Amino acid sequence: TRRLVGQGCGKLILFGEHAVVWGQPAIVAGLPRGATALVRMAEKASLSIVNGRTGAVHAEVEPKADGSPLEQAYQAMLDILELEGPIGVHVTIDVPIGAGLGSSAAMSVAAARALTQFVGKPMATTEVEAIVARTESIFHGNPSGIDQAAALGGGIFQYTRGTPASIEALWVEPVSVVVTETGPAPSTASLVEGVGRFHDAHPKIASRIDELVGEVVADARTALAKGDWGTVGELMNVNHGLLVSMGVSTPGLDRACHIARAAGALGAKLTGAGGGGCMFALAPESPDEVVRALQEAGFDAFEITIP
Ligand code: MEV
Repeated sequence: TRRLVGQGCGKLILFGEHAVVWGQPAIVAGLPRGATALVRMAEKASLSIVNGRTGAVHAEVEPKADGSPLEQAYQAMLDILELEGPIGVHVTIDVPIGAGLGSSAAMSVAAARALTQFVGKPMATTEVEAIVARTESIFHGNPSGIDQAAALGGGIFQYTRGTPASIEALWVEPVSVVVTETGPAPSTASLVEGVGRFHDAHPKIASRIDELVGEVVADARTALAKGDWGTVGELMNVNHGLLVSMGVSTPGLDRACHIARAAGALGAKLTGAGGGGCMFALAPESPDEVVRALQEAGFDAFEITIP
């Protein structure tokens, strides 16, 4: 049987989540881990997702136009590629799932890449992009597109939404960060809606906060380019505070940030949509100490190098 594989990167938003939905720039890193998809003829059309960190089956669905988001997403992929028949897609995800590290975009990119090869004629990147734009809107409503841009290309870049989005690659020295999940997270769509309600209730304050995030991003870009990690860390702390004021942090995220800073991290912030999910800490000199402190407090922390 033919087996075809595709890959997509997970992502770490270094600066600017949420404000990016409102037009501000953000800085994101595509991670060397994410999702790998394998396509093969099966007994029936099915999409299975395995958590590569635990080996557990996360989900197994059939394509269904009016089904769950995952069933709809799989149906949309097959429809866009005009594929029919008992096509099995098996995806392994190597980042925490649904926790702000871009697992859904990585899954969609990996599956779309594997499926486009299955069609038997070379497909342009734009077709993979069209599939992932569709599945990401099924999962997240009206996303900025930042997750999908990172999942497709990796690397560190500044992203500003628009038609087309602006993507500027940044050159940053490889740096070690510590990541931990802090608890279950509601959907990105509901968190983005919550920030929307904050904008409705306090339009002036919310737009000033967004502008401040934009300034943090501009300064962070300069500091990242210089490898000025002390400044990068301070700006992470400021960005976390601004996210707190938007209402997307949780006691668990705040606690993990405080533990990491106390253990020597230069800075720490939530990453992704928040409401739970992941935080990361910058500790280029002493990542082990930060991992240990978080683990002692019961967090499943791990170190990752932003390449
Ligand atoms: C989610 O990874 C990032 C958010 O800014 C939403 C988006 O950009 O679509 C919270």
